[in-house]
Amino acid sequence: MSCDYETFYELARTRRSYRKLKSDPLPEGTVEKIMECGRWAMNGGNAQPWEFIVVTNPETKLQMAKDWNAAFKEYKIIEESRVPELRHPVFSRPEGLPNWKDCPAMIGIIGDRRKMQTSVLHPGFYGSEGGDGIGPTFYKDLGNVAQMMHLAVASMGLGSEWLSIERPLQLKWQRLLNIPDDLELQTFVLIGYPDMDTPPGFRRELSQFVHYETYNYDLYNTTEDVRDMILESRSAVRKAEGAAYKIKPVGE
Ligand SMILES: Cc1cc2nc3c(=O)[nH]c(=O)nc-3n(C[C@H](O)[C@H](O)[C@H](O)COP(=O)(O)O)c2cc1C
Repeated sequence: MSCDYETFYELARTRRSYRKLKSDPLPEGTVEKIMECGRWAMNGGNAQPWEFIVVTNPETKLQMAKDWNAAFKEYKIIEESRVPELRHPVFSRPEGLPNWKDCPAMIGIIGDRRKMQTSVLHPGFYGSEGGDGIGPTFYKDLGNVAQMMHLAVASMGLGSEWLSIERPLQLKWQRLLNIPDDLELQTFVLIGYPDMDTPPGFRRELSQFVHYETYNYDLYNTTEDVRDMILESRSAVRKAEGAAYKIKPVGE
C-alpha cells in the first residue's frame, strides 16, 4: 500500500501550527482516528514507550489554562531578556488565558521509560542518538508520535498546535490528571478548527543545507547566519499571529 508522493508532499508542506483554534466540536471519532495514526509512529526497538490521555472537560482545560498562564508569566520574564525581534511570537500575544482552553480536544502524550527495555541495550553503555542511555531515543519516539498526530490532524482539514510542557507544569498536570509518578507527561496535541488564516510556512531550501558525500563548507552557517534565519522565520509568523490576535507585530 502506498499513497502518491504529491498527496503526501502537499500534506507535509501545508500542515501548519495553528495557535488560534475554534471551540466548535469535532466530528465523532476524530480524536480516535488521530490517535490511531499516532500509534503507528516509528520508535526505537519498537518499544512504543507511550500512552495517550484525552482531555475535553471544560473545567479541566480551564484549570490547565490557568496553570499555564501562571507559568507563562515567568517564562515571559526570561524571554524578554532578548531583543524584541528575536523573541518567540508566542510572547507577543495579548495577556490572558491561552486560546486553547476552549479547543474541543487535547491529546496528552505520556512516556513510560520502562518500555525502553524492549530496545537494544548497548546505547546505554556507548551513548547513541545524541546522548547517553535511553533518554534520546525515548524522547524521539514520543516526538514521532506527536508528529504523526499533527499530520493526521492536517489530513482532516483541522488545525493543531504542539504544546510543550516544562517540568513545573508537567508535575502539576500529572497530579491534576492523576498520572502515576513513574510515567512522564511530555506534550499535548491541541486540536480544533483553525480560527486564523493559514500561517506562512518558513523552511530553508534544500540547497541551503544538503551535503552530498562530504560536508560542503560553502553551506556552513555562521552564528550570524543563524541569527538572520531566526529573524526571517519570526517576522512571518508574527504577522500571521498579529492579524489573528489583532495586535501590532513587533518591529512594524
Ligand atoms: C519539540 C517541539 C516543541 C514545540 N513546542 C511548541 C509550543 O510549545 N508551542 C507552539 O505553539 N508550538 C510548538 N512547536 C511547533 C513549532 O513552533 C512549529 O512546528 C514551527 O514553528 C514551524 O511552524 P509550522 O508547524 O507552522 O510549520 C513545537 C514543535 C516541536 C517539534
